[in-house]
Amino acid sequence: MIKDLTTILDLSAADVSQLLHSAFRFKELHERGVRREPSLDGRVVSMIFEKPSLRTKVAFEVAATYLGATPVFLTSEQILASGQQERGRESVVDIARNLERMSDLLVARVYSHTTIRTLAETVRIPVVNALCDQHHPTQALADLMTMQWHKGRLCGLTVSYVGDGNNVATSLLQACAMMGVHFRIASPPGYEIPRAEVQRAQQLAAESKSELSFVSDPRQAVKDADVVYTDTFVSMGQEKEKEQRLASFKGYQVTSTLLGQAKKDVIFMHCLPAHRGEEVTDEVMDGPHSVVFDQAECRLHIAKAILSGLLREYHHECARPKG
Ligand code: CP
Ligand code: NVA
Repeated sequence: MIKDLTTILDLSAADVSQLLHSAFRFKELHERGVRREPSLDGRVVSMIFEKPSLRTKVAFEVAATYLGATPVFLTSEQILASGQQERGRESVVDIARNLERMSDLLVARVYSHTTIRTLAETVRIPVVNALCDQHHPTQALADLMTMQWHKGRLCGLTVSYVGDGNNVATSLLQACAMMGVHFRIASPPGYEIPRAEVQRAQQLAAESKSELSFVSDPRQAVKDADVVYTDTFVSMGQEKEKEQRLASFKGYQVTSTLLGQAKKDVIFMHCLPAHRGEEVTDEVMDGPHSVVFDQAECRLHIAKAILSGLLREYHHECARPKG
């Protein structure tokens, strides 16, 4: 297993299969009512979050506790913004250098992907990207798990993403390309997935035989899809662009009519939080095709699989920080 999970590209297809297998095992235990399996007893999982979170925060805190580890959750108000107070501001890297002396793994939600990379290069404990402006790998793993749960397979499915070519779309594209899932995206001009990320996905797709398609017409993307997926048009940090973005994404809302273009047994997915009435209607969110809360549940099973995989396997082969 890898040291860090900074993007989906850190993983091989075999790593993803292993994580999914582990996550389904945790799901089964969860359904049997097992509430504790302390294989990481005594470990500490530190979490630095520069942006708000519901699902990711709770998933990793509950996962760490379930596995017997102690989660320590820190927001930027508590640490990064301390410059507003008298004690002075510390850089993210200096914070991480402190935390690596007291913890076994770092989960970080930040703005820039460069921060995630710097953290991974600087500290000797594993670093997990809990979302940055460019990637959301733990979400994409939970998305694959949700598809496998509801469709019984991954290879050969068609996922149609409607909306912004953002962090969630990028990680989903790369996860699908790696696992042989066909991926189509409809985004308005100017809001496509960054070209460099698409090129990386195309290399993976060539190996897995996944077909990738990039269009601007939502109906073209959604036709005969197995999965229809959307996310907010205004991601965290883009609040000032809200008005412009909502205008640009007119016509990209997932409605029952649009969903009707997909296969009859299509599932509707959303990483959440949803902005009802913007990227999706209430009717779709609460309708018979929606699996969004199963998808949220998968965040927990995947968090357990990630912590367990990185801590149990990585620490066997890696020395603790040198004294
Ligand atoms: N989907 C997701 O990452 O949700 P949170 O922002 O609530 O963690
Ligand atoms: N694209 C969204 C995802 C939230 C989970 C954001 O970055 O705000």
